[in-house]
Amino acid sequence: MPKVIADIDEVLTTTRSVRRKLDFDRPVEPEVIEECLALAQQATMGSNQEDWRFVAVTDAAQKAAIGEIYRDTWLQTVEIPLRDRRPATVARLDPGERGGDAARARQQRILDSVKYLVDNIERVPVLVFACSAKPVPRTVLGDAASGYYGSIIPITWSFQLALRSRGLGSVMATAVVFHAERLSEILALPEGTHPITMVPVAYTKTLDFKRAPRRPLNEILRWERWGSDAA
Ligand SMILES: Cc1cc2nc3c(=O)[nH]c(=O)nc-3n(C[C@H](O)[C@H](O)[C@H](O)COP(=O)(O)O)c2cc1C
Repeated sequence: MPKVIADIDEVLTTTRSVRRKLDFDRPVEPEVIEECLALAQQATMGSNQEDWRFVAVTDAAQKAAIGEIYRDTWLQTVEIPLRDRRPATVARLDPGERGGDAARARQQRILDSVKYLVDNIERVPVLVFACSAKPVPRTVLGDAASGYYGSIIPITWSFQLALRSRGLGSVMATAVVFHAERLSEILALPEGTHPITMVPVAYTKTLDFKRAPRRPLNEILRWERWGSDAA
């Protein structure tokens, strides 16, 4: 597949989470999914173990089953907790909790966009599921959690970057694993393999995506140590 955006800095800065601008009517060739995933396989991984597995779903009946649990996920994790003003969800998702008009408006746009995807998930040409084949840990992971599930995120993000460079959009839609067991059944995952995130994939209606506003670097980076006191 020819690259439509070859400049790596442009790919890095304009790979947005795409929901509304996914083109549901343009078919996605299986080859482009395979090519992008083969590129993404070069991502970093824990313990040099390729314990990631992917399932790409295009079948209408499979998508309908996934749509059912995705809509229920929205209800259980967003709509009902926000309606009932549950503090943890309000703090995490309510636009009213964000400081400043711009941040509030952006959070409202994201929520509307997430709901749009929930309502239209069956129309997305390919739903890719990134899964982990690591056995479920027997002990509480605590501080070791980053190493446990960390490998699936770099490969998934590389996949999203490769898609963007070829004119496709995607989003890391982790929420659906709220129904991990039902999802594992639908995808017929082997024992010990569990879903980590869904990645809806389609060509995008435009290629014109922009950098998103982010905190100034000096709010997230310190050199040598975080605190200001000399050691
Ligand atoms: C770990 C993780 C989980 C996410 N879960 C969801 C999700 O469940 N549904 C969704 O629509 N977007 C999800 N996103 C996308 C974020 O909402 C999005 O990245 C964020 O709002 C910033 O927007 P941008 O990616 O366009 O810069 C997730 C992203 C990450 C990295």
